[in-house]
Amino acid sequence: MSKIQGQDLTPYEEYQLDFSGDDFPDRELTPRAAHAVIESAMWTDANPMLNLSSFVTTFMEPEARDLMSKHAHVNYIDHDMYPKSYHMEQRMVQMLHSLWNGPKGVEPYGTACVGSSEACMLAGLAHKWNWRQAREAAGKDASRPNMVTGGNVQIVWKKFMKYFDVEPRIVPLKPGNYRLTAEELDQYVDENTICVVAIVGQTFTGEDDELQAIHDWLDDYEKKTDISVPMHIDGASGGFVHPFLYPDYKWDFRLPRVQSINASGHKFGLVLPGLGWVIFRERKVFNEDLIFYVNYLGGESATATLNFSRNAAQIIAQAYQFLRLGRPGYERIMRLTVDNAEHLRERLVESGFFTIMNETQSIPVVALTLKDDFKNFSEFDISSKVREKGWVLSAYTMPPNAETVNSLRVVVRPHLNRTVVNQLADDIIAACKHLAEHGGTATPPELHSHKKTAPKC
Ligand SMILES: Cc1ncc(COP(=O)(O)O)c(C=O)c1O
Repeated sequence: MSKIQGQDLTPYEEYQLDFSGDDFPDRELTPRAAHAVIESAMWTDANPMLNLSSFVTTFMEPEARDLMSKHAHVNYIDHDMYPKSYHMEQRMVQMLHSLWNGPKGVEPYGTACVGSSEACMLAGLAHKWNWRQAREAAGKDASRPNMVTGGNVQIVWKKFMKYFDVEPRIVPLKPGNYRLTAEELDQYVDENTICVVAIVGQTFTGEDDELQAIHDWLDDYEKKTDISVPMHIDGASGGFVHPFLYPDYKWDFRLPRVQSINASGHKFGLVLPGLGWVIFRERKVFNEDLIFYVNYLGGESATATLNFSRNAAQIIAQAYQFLRLGRPGYERIMRLTVDNAEHLRERLVESGFFTIMNETQSIPVVALTLKDDFKNFSEFDISSKVREKGWVLSAYTMPPNAETVNSLRVVVRPHLNRTVVNQLADDIIAACKHLAEHGGTATPPELHSHKKTAPKC
């Protein structure tokens, strides 16, 4: 029982404790009282299972959760004391290198990260370092690196370019085309381009960039100019879908120009947050100059991540999923999930309210825009109306130059069965019918600097 100012508290009174001040607490509580207060503070948050605005995994089997909680106190970075977590991670690096068709006979290199964001930053740094060394070795100016991406990139790439002083060369989208194509690359790529980033399973519509065309364009560019520009594939979502559902589609290291790939273990890798992966075509792509050797945790170990200490639980959980599911398990889960996404897409298109934005359905994302006939409500109204039922769906304006287009996006994740998907379709359609009759009032939330909304990851 907790005692506050000499008074014993019952469990009811513990739940009723106030936790609203910002001053550092000046009293102790019993574990049960602290648990009650924190737990009740979370009650009004969204239900993560119904949060289909996010790609991030919310379900793992009890055996996986058991492993995670048993290893929550393991600091992964201490390879000397916890060599098993490190070896598990290194074996998974090899597995991903082979899953993504890395060349045989080379030494693969890669690492687990906190998420794809850290993975993307490491890849970007490797390309910046390689580019700079090559320029310096050739006696050329190395002060103005740039990176070429589509306007559909996730915010991490804009962060990378700003944080690490790389000029952004972002090819704008246009209404009806939300992918990076090869069409305008000649206006963006030059001798200072450290790499072109292309996406499989993009954040906004779930589509893939035109990888092969971009690759071929860069080949032609090299023939004409002698400048070789590498590609990085952002497979945050697609990296764990494409190998299982589209094994013949060359999106990975089979394209010779692809030097690095990232994926989120905590998206379709099916691990609870936070886990990302970056894998390099071979060790030499990850510039040796970025590796530090430290000895302050015990024996000497190499470190080349942006973060140092981290929980080993997600790495162990990823090993559980690889072992538990193998290729057939991932394939079956991804097939069912994409089938559910296609079903949702069909139901919503049939309702007559929407136009589909993703022409192709590679990852289980459904991106919709309201038909022009419906002028008295918006995607933002639908998002807030279905929130009454507990669903969280992203509504946002597309990036430049497609900002006239609003999108409503549903990430269909593997924990959703057909019954739940049908319930969601019913609730979206009911919301649209209500709004068509009564009108809506929601306006796009304004983002601080550029007055745009951005989808979650
Ligand atoms: C294409 C893409 N790249 C990178 C990221 C960042 O990933 P993370 O949230 O794992 O850091 C996301 C997140 O949605 C994404 O969709």
